[in-house]
Amino acid sequence: MQQIRNIVILTGAGISAESGIDTFRGGGGLWEQHRVEDVATPEAFARDPDLVLRFYDMRRAAIQEKQPNAAHTALARLEAEWPGNLLLVTQNVDDLHERGGSRRVLHMHGEHLNAWCTSCDIRSRWTGPLIDRPACPACAAPTLRPDVVWFGEMPYRMGEIYAALREADLFVSIGTSGAVYPAAGFVQNARELGARTLELNLERSQGSHWFHESRLGPATEVVPAWVDEMLGFA
Ligand code: OAD
Repeated sequence: MQQIRNIVILTGAGISAESGIDTFRGGGGLWEQHRVEDVATPEAFARDPDLVLRFYDMRRAAIQEKQPNAAHTALARLEAEWPGNLLLVTQNVDDLHERGGSRRVLHMHGEHLNAWCTSCDIRSRWTGPLIDRPACPACAAPTLRPDVVWFGEMPYRMGEIYAALREADLFVSIGTSGAVYPAAGFVQNARELGARTLELNLERSQGSHWFHESRLGPATEVVPAWVDEMLGFA
């Protein structure tokens, strides 16, 4: 523990599951209810924009009803009290890390509460629906889309993420199935560069074998316990 200074944490849908937000895979997951090809690709948006906008309008409205849980707040406490560097990278498009108190959150798959104008390229905070083609607050064009990375698009801020992984002494993955790259490969990058690697998840993920250690259980239990340990309370 003494040698750990720089921490990179990757979170996925599992950290928000106990807040009532559906995960993507597994029984009842979002991708069982909707085909990825219908709602989460640029081709789907070109083919049937109303279907895609309605899907994201529903999700945007739903997340605003949810509250951060003990795992989100534990990570905020770690950020506030950790004496070294900590970067929180999330694949989640909800804002529960921020509402849980985290200050520095990098959303590699975008954010539900942003709209992106495909005319002027400006992103605006957006909490309402997009289905009626509202005007972009910056350029007034009716060309806003969800600011969410779809399959076939490049995740955001990869340069910053890889730079942090190069410096990491500890890489921790929380609540993610390890099914989607490039995030699923971060553990290999970090490990090859000498970081210790830890997984906190409900069950073993697809990439479990890459981690030095896996701790299994619900995020609201395993994450606060790990944070206590890191801060010397356990
Ligand atoms: P997944 O739905 O693929 O995986 C969620 C993981 O969380 C699974 O391994 C579950 O076992 C675990 N889990 C469920 N409940 C949990 C709990 N209470 N505590 C801890 N773990 C729990 O979600 P992601 O890995 O986040 O991308 O998915 C990655 C990406 O695939 C998403 O960002 C999204 C999706 O398609 C895009 O939309 C671009």
